[in-house]
Amino acid sequence: MSHKILEGKKGIIFGALDNQSIAWKTAEAVKEAGGEFVLTNAPVAFRMGTINDLAEKTGSKIIPADATKMEDLENLIDQSVSHLAGKLDFILHSIGMSVNVRKGRNYTDLNYDWMTKGWDVSSVSFHKLLQTLYQKDAMNPWGSILALSYIAAQRTFPNYNDMADNKAYLESIARSFGYFFGKNKKVRVNTISQSPTLTTAGKGVKGLDGFLSYADQTAPLGNASAEDCAKYSVMMFSDYTKKVTLQNLFHDGGFSNVGVSQEIIDALEKG
Ligand SMILES: NC(=O)c1ccc[n+]([C@@H]2O[C@H](COP(=O)([O-])OP(=O)(O)OC[C@H]3O[C@@H](n4cnc5c(N)ncnc54)[C@H](O)[C@@H]3O)[C@@H](O)[C@H]2O)c1
Repeated sequence: MSHKILEGKKGIIFGALDNQSIAWKTAEAVKEAGGEFVLTNAPVAFRMGTINDLAEKTGSKIIPADATKMEDLENLIDQSVSHLAGKLDFILHSIGMSVNVRKGRNYTDLNYDWMTKGWDVSSVSFHKLLQTLYQKDAMNPWGSILALSYIAAQRTFPNYNDMADNKAYLESIARSFGYFFGKNKKVRVNTISQSPTLTTAGKGVKGLDGFLSYADQTAPLGNASAEDCAKYSVMMFSDYTKKVTLQNLFHDGGFSNVGVSQEIIDALEKG
């Protein structure tokens, strides 16, 4: 049975590319919980993905925006407030991309133009989004803004490459901007640090299968799926989490606090 804990709440969901995307699952879960939203993605994603199906299924409007472009963000926010007939209560930033990862460049041999591009898309876009929302006063008090992160921001995962730095930067922006958003607008800003998940962005990481099963065998509850993450986001958008802000929230089945699990020891001893 579904609980309509987002009834009356309005928002914007960034980053649904296909039905594997964490943002896609989140849109479905938000809809089920009674929330209304605008879907957005970079114009290029409309050629690659299937976002129109999601818009139809959830009865949502799509407004394209490249999250690195201020004019796109301004237009998106103005149009969303007008379409939804009111200020916003929730935002999901579910965006990540590294050109170095895509092109298989090692961390010890980075192309700095690509690094800058990935940093702009994966991290600075969050600041641009927050600043646009803040300056336009587009959020309702007690609204909730989330971005998605990964534990490579705190611990080393060699194949995560420059995305590790991008995630550390992203989490820092959430804390720094979250201070002003909390103090002056009563809006909360958090990041969710999600388990490795099979999505288009996830598949870009070299050796993802091994990575996924290592995390799954380490976490006492196993990996969190995209659907699990979607439900967590619904709770974070709801009034049940009004005083949670400036946090990086691990949503990983307990992975982040485990040294080693018995399954991993057993596997190594066999080998
Ligand atoms: N998949 C994982 O293992 C995993 C784990 C932890 C965190 N995350 C994070 O979750 C978020 C969502 O990724 P996903 O795994 O659902 O993959 P995904 O590939 O489905 O989503 C990434 C999205 O970013 C969008 N995007 C890229 N450049 C953009 C731009 N300039 N403007 C607007 N949108 C742009 C893409 O079009 C795509 O929809 C990312 O921040 C990712 O780093 C993923």
